[in-house]
Amino acid sequence: MEDQKPSPFNRRKFLINVAKVAGVGAVGYVYFTGIRNDVSEVPPPPIGKHIFLTQPYLYSVQPDVMYVRCISNLQSLSWVEYGETRNLGGKAFSVTDGFINANNRIHEIALENLKPGKTYYYRVASKQINEFENEETIQFGETIYSAVFSFTLPAEKESESSWLMLNDIHDRPESFAQLFKLNKDEPFDYVFLNGDMFDFIAGEEQIIEHLIKPCTGVFASQKPMIFQRGNHEIRGSFNWHLKDYFSAPQKQYFTYHSGPVFIIVLDTGEEQIDMDFDRFDSYREKQALWLEKIMQSEEYKTAKYKVVKMHIPPYYSFDQKGSRHCKKVFSPLFDQYKIDLVIAGHTHTYGVHPPVKGQHDYPIVIGGGPIPGNRTLIKVKANQEQLHLQMLKDDGSLVGEYKIKAGR
Ligand SMILES: [Fe+2]
Repeated sequence: MEDQKPSPFNRRKFLINVAKVAGVGAVGYVYFTGIRNDVSEVPPPPIGKHIFLTQPYLYSVQPDVMYVRCISNLQSLSWVEYGETRNLGGKAFSVTDGFINANNRIHEIALENLKPGKTYYYRVASKQINEFENEETIQFGETIYSAVFSFTLPAEKESESSWLMLNDIHDRPESFAQLFKLNKDEPFDYVFLNGDMFDFIAGEEQIIEHLIKPCTGVFASQKPMIFQRGNHEIRGSFNWHLKDYFSAPQKQYFTYHSGPVFIIVLDTGEEQIDMDFDRFDSYREKQALWLEKIMQSEEYKTAKYKVVKMHIPPYYSFDQKGSRHCKKVFSPLFDQYKIDLVIAGHTHTYGVHPPVKGQHDYPIVIGGGPIPGNRTLIKVKANQEQLHLQMLKDDGSLVGEYKIKAGR
């Protein structure tokens, strides 16, 4: 949904990407978004003393792997020191095809072969690289270290799970802490960001200041953060680089197990009319083919609960191209393969919509946002008996609830 707040970022810059197309509609303008600005790599860093621009932030959808991410201001060689006590002891580098990934700033280091159910302590180290012609003459500078943090992995085939969901923050960094506070001190496994964290993506500083720092300030150095893009993350000159900052399985749409819950994450793409071809229609159709195969798998059939997370909901959305197409390609599959629950955002109007015969045989929960009084935190807890969803408004009131019995 279009944002109503004046953005701290230059909207005029973005509007350069709005092309005028003669003879299209009454207004004559359509959005031409999702253009990859591929003229350069991530821009050169600011010069100065070697520092971390962020605290470490975590990502994982497996019980034996944790991805540790961190951003430094200068090119460096980074690693993670980790172990089951504060003494650490282990060391991991980022390695691809036998190469250590170095001379970079945006670091992702996988800690692999971890023990499910265990707590690990870790810190990130980053050694500045002043000059790198070859391995013999490489010139290193200062090594810096993050503070020591810890995380706890779920057990193998964990019987319970719990997560928090935020959506449609739209460049309001203060919302993370305000909404997170609603959880009080209740335990949870991870946080899922269900799209439109930004209005549009203009650069690294925005990603750090408006998302990573607010999240590490409240959870992301200790709990995994899973971020699925919304339609607004498809917009802006820096859109393509979003992938550099957040870990994800190889595709933008994926599945994972969260205790007894089988989760399907869809990428609902752009909402607006496209200029002269239907990139996102074909992208969603491709996902629907993939989705049906997933839903025919034993993994899906035998799951205790089946939940879809998607930014644009299949119903109760706008009369716009993307919303209509999401309904058309995804909803019949949700019905046919009996999905238990869809959790979405996008409309900025929170609501719990039980199944409606002849329309959707599955419940749809939509989180609100982004203005105060309309923002929500979604909390989900699942065990062997039931899946329990609660939606809290930013004043702390319970504005939605849904329970699903196991084996319904
Ligand atoms: Fe949206």
